[in-house]
Amino acid sequence: DIRGVIFDLDGVLTDTAEYHYQAWQRLADEEGIPFNRQANEALRGVSRRESLMLIIGDRKYSEAQIQEMMERKNGYYIELIHHVTPKDLLPGAIALLEELRQAGIKTAIGSASKNAQTVVELLGIADKVDAIADGYSVKQPKPAPDLFLYAAKELGLQPKQCVVVEDAAAGVEAALAGGMWAVGLGPVERVGAADVVLPSLAGVKWADIQAKLSEKVL
Ligand code: BG6
Ligand code: MG
Repeated sequence: DIRGVIFDLDGVLTDTAEYHYQAWQRLADEEGIPFNRQANEALRGVSRRESLMLIIGDRKYSEAQIQEMMERKNGYYIELIHHVTPKDLLPGAIALLEELRQAGIKTAIGSASKNAQTVVELLGIADKVDAIADGYSVKQPKPAPDLFLYAAKELGLQPKQCVVVEDAAAGVEAALAGGMWAVGLGPVERVGAADVVLPSLAGVKWADIQAKLSEKVL
């Protein structure tokens, strides 16, 4: 019996995944490192440091340079998210959050981002979720289950009582590793490991997710 839903933030409730991409692209261009939208797909849901590692590949940088590049990228990202408003919630997001609250289902944010709190406030959904797990909550990033386990604990629920909604392969993997249900948003090539795959949250009702999950069990 599912009692809680844990939402990833970037790429699930809002399209900040695009801003992460643009910020990395700007950094890569400055450093003369080849990077593009397709390469960025592998970075969805991946921590800031691990993302940079994937971008630089086997190029040699000192720890100081790595720190500087992570900060520079974050500066660009913060510039881009300044303008985020409730209008930047993706279609279906607010309706589902409100429906879940009505239904007595607990909700949490489970985001790897250290900027998650800021984005949640700019989106105006801070009072629509019961807990926030972010880039400061745990040490091990997705695909480790730690962040979602932390969120479940904050909600006072067992992993199997929780559904995670994710747009990233690393996030789906983290949810399943934690013993939770996973709803993947986006192409099967990316989130096909999830229990349920949907194109987006647009028009999605809680009953639809429940029905699809119970098909899984039967
Ligand atoms: C995730 C994003 O939510 O957070 C990743 O999907 C990002 O793209 C990660 O790298 C860390 O975010 P931040 O804001 O702490 O750099
Ligand atoms: Mg995401």
